[in-house]
Amino acid sequence: MTEVTIRHVWKEYDGDVVLERVNLDVAPHSFVSIVGPSGCGKSTFLRMLLSQEAPTRGFIRIDGQDLPPEPTAERGVVFQRYSVFPHLTALENVAFGPEVARAPLLGRLFGSRRKAVLEQAAAALASVGLDHAGDKYPAQMSGGMQQRLAIAQALITKPKVLLLDEPFGALDPGIRADMHQLMLRLFDETGMTVFMVTHDLKEAFHLGTRLVAFDRYKTRPEEIGAYGATITLDLALDRSSARERAEAMVGLADKVADQPA
Ligand SMILES: Nc1ncnc2c1ncn2[C@@H]1O[C@H](COP(=O)(O)OP(=O)(O)OP(=O)(O)O)[C@@H](O)[C@H]1O
Ligand SMILES: [Mg+2]
Repeated sequence: MTEVTIRHVWKEYDGDVVLERVNLDVAPHSFVSIVGPSGCGKSTFLRMLLSQEAPTRGFIRIDGQDLPPEPTAERGVVFQRYSVFPHLTALENVAFGPEVARAPLLGRLFGSRRKAVLEQAAAALASVGLDHAGDKYPAQMSGGMQQRLAIAQALITKPKVLLLDEPFGALDPGIRADMHQLMLRLFDETGMTVFMVTHDLKEAFHLGTRLVAFDRYKTRPEEIGAYGATITLDLALDRSSARERAEAMVGLADKVADQPA
């Protein structure tokens, strides 16, 4: 079980403030949905949690430890698209990370060590419902299957923290609903803490145990640059009632859509 502490974090690029005064205490096994207008720094925030970027000021700790300066296996990430390797099969895609980590020079394991990694990769594929697609290449897979593959890639290292940057934004609504079910199951089965950026409020309520919104308080042209976005809303979500609310909203939307014009 993993808790995350974010204390007084600022991020500037070339002197322009993107994020300021970001404080957040995230309890173990939380699912934090992150919303906010385009360009307010949501992806930047995730990149700091991943150590792809360092805060200009402030600190982030996982279970009381400062973040390592580089991305590590304890933090997995799934982006909206393009995170799988087109020249590798599904099984090879999932095995790639652990193989490179364990055989940094050759990028390839042999014998029983390779077999063990391939078995882990097969198990990760099965956990996302891709057990029969191990020898398919990404180009032979639908968008939903590719995102399942990206999730399996992120999960094979059993990360403590999973970072999702609009992971389902490019998928059709029906496929997205399947992915929500998958994500809820994986969240319940593991002890991980999840941060998910989304533009879809319904999705944020449906999956999150907590909703965090980023926005700027100062938006006049002369203030942009000098001031960044910060957390403007932080709501604890009651999972069961949030699910009911989301379902009610979906039901309502369907009814409205079904009305004859
Ligand atoms: N490497 C970088 N160098 C300079 N500026 C950057 C860099 N990365 C992000 N920015 C700037 O930081 C701001 C926040 O960008 P970010 O991508 O985090 O926003 P976002 O909230 O994820 O937006 P969206 O919803 O469109 O994905 C933007 O103004 C962007 O131009
Ligand atoms: Mg973004």
